[in-house]
Amino acid sequence: MSEKGPIGIFDSGYGGLTVLKEIREQLPQYDYLYLGDNARAPYGPRSFEVIYEYTWQAVQALFEQGCSLVILACNTASAKALRSIQQKQLPLLSGNKRVLGVIRPSTEALGEMTISKHIGILATEGTVKSESYLIELQKFAPEITVTQHACPMWVPLIENNQQTTPGGIYFLQQDLLSLLQQDPKIDTILLGCTHYPLVKETLESLLPPHIQVVAQGSLVATKLENYLQRHPEIESLCQKGGNVTYVTTESASDFSINASRIMGLSIDAKHITLH
Ligand code: DGL
Repeated sequence: MSEKGPIGIFDSGYGGLTVLKEIREQLPQYDYLYLGDNARAPYGPRSFEVIYEYTWQAVQALFEQGCSLVILACNTASAKALRSIQQKQLPLLSGNKRVLGVIRPSTEALGEMTISKHIGILATEGTVKSESYLIELQKFAPEITVTQHACPMWVPLIENNQQTTPGGIYFLQQDLLSLLQQDPKIDTILLGCTHYPLVKETLESLLPPHIQVVAQGSLVATKLENYLQRHPEIESLCQKGGNVTYVTTESASDFSINASRIMGLSIDAKHITLH
């Protein structure tokens, strides 16, 4: 029988912390291991092959650390790597190993959030090009008009903590404008990149009040809770203790400073090398 281990949470950098925060609020009883591949962020502009390779390396590292369940708290990795990992890699492994993403849980909930039936999705180039949101929303809410817009500057800005500088706000404003020019009837904007909730308040201040900005964290947390209830064989492999460990492929001290600010906690991260 497999040993119990933490739930693995993976992102290219700091974005997955916005998901971890909500998951911890809803499911504080479990242990978590957060892996940020900050040294190789952003993933958004990279090719399918590279995103798949990096994501699979990260998932394997989390499995090696004892995780049986890994959440790809990254839309780009969910869009480009999740299905191949689930279909090609996991069947080759012994024991119960599962990898889940963030796109499906978000699209399942989105349909009920819009009154105008016009939704905007802001995401990385990789997620937009994959059309994963268009495909999933077509299944769950075919009556909705969906407009996507890629914001390639946002992840680099956030990774470098430049998002509230005048230059940073200029990029946020321009991208919102581009989205709304494509469809002025949009009343709901999904932040389809886990980094973007870190600028949610700024976005809200730049938008008219009738447009709601939706972050994925709580949607993902609710679906995870539901998943663990439906899969006791996986739930029983998740260690309970309420502890969180953080590892990064970049400087551990830089990560600790930035993650402590984002999480509102004192975090002491460790370095990890992926290969
Ligand atoms: N947080 C990742 C996402 O949700 C950002 C990807 C990137 O590194 O560009 O897509």
